[in-house]
Amino acid sequence: MRVVCRVGDVADGCVKRVELDGYAPLAVFNIGERYYVTDDTCTHVDASLAEGTIEGDVVTCPFHRGRFHIPSGKVVSRPPKCDLRTYVVEVLGDEVVIVE
Ligand code: FES
Repeated sequence: MRVVCRVGDVADGCVKRVELDGYAPLAVFNIGERYYVTDDTCTHVDASLAEGTIEGDVVTCPFHRGRFHIPSGKVVSRPPKCDLRTYVVEVLGDEVVIVE
């Protein structure tokens, strides 16, 4: 398990970019006080999804408006063709961790 942030580091409805050794940049989402972690880099080009916009459980890429379902990483609308990698997340005490 790796700690990605603390509960409270990401407000409800927001996203934070996190860099951990050994991982691609990560995006930590708080959706209704549930935490989700995906790769931060859009699968289309190199945009940071942490700079995108969130509506419900969908994030819109800031570059070409591709959209991803945050919990599953699935593409909702193109141009991206490949889904985002997602991570199994647990909240332990006040820490958000990903399960390796
Ligand atoms: S870089 Fe994300 S949609 Fe193009």
